[in-house]
Amino acid sequence: MDKLEIMKIALCGYMGCGKSTVSQLIASKKGLNFVETDLKIEKQENLSISEIFTQKGEIYFRKQENLILKNLLDNLDESVLSLGGGTPCYANNLQMLKETQDLKLVYLKLTAANLTNRLWSETHQRPLISHLSSKELLDEYVRKHLFERQYYYLQSDYIIDANDKSAEELSDEIINLFY
Ligand code: S3P
Repeated sequence: MDKLEIMKIALCGYMGCGKSTVSQLIASKKGLNFVETDLKIEKQENLSISEIFTQKGEIYFRKQENLILKNLLDNLDESVLSLGGGTPCYANNLQMLKETQDLKLVYLKLTAANLTNRLWSETHQRPLISHLSSKELLDEYVRKHLFERQYYYLQSDYIIDANDKSAEELSDEIINLFY
């Protein structure tokens, strides 16, 4: 495919890997729309992600995530899409992403140790890890969970080593893949 034809980029990766910040930077630098699945779900439900998990449960969240992704991909124009950390790992989400014409899926890959360091100060905002009361427990959780999820993340079109790089650097690296 001609580099210039690719105008749809979806960023995936574990919680805390920087998907949202990097996606927004790419979108603003290239004049593309920025879309975030979590924000769409929050808007639709008029609840935060944490509230959806506590009030309606994770299964409900995953169902909405799948429906919103389908709707987004069916109507997507030139955009940078920031996915939730679990999005490619549930239902037919990865398949839908892979089958969307002109869309390239990019995995922001960080080590479990770096993810743990980033996530430790913000566990309370994240329903999947809010119960973990020590950094050791968080580290153990992230290692196991990342191991399970890498199977999906690694099917991305591009795998970017995001360790020790700023969001600015990562946005430029991704832009250089396509433009
Ligand atoms: C989740 C990650 C979150 C959000 C939800 C579930 C996950 O998104 O979708 O809490 O399963 O990893 P971020 O990766 O943007 O934090």
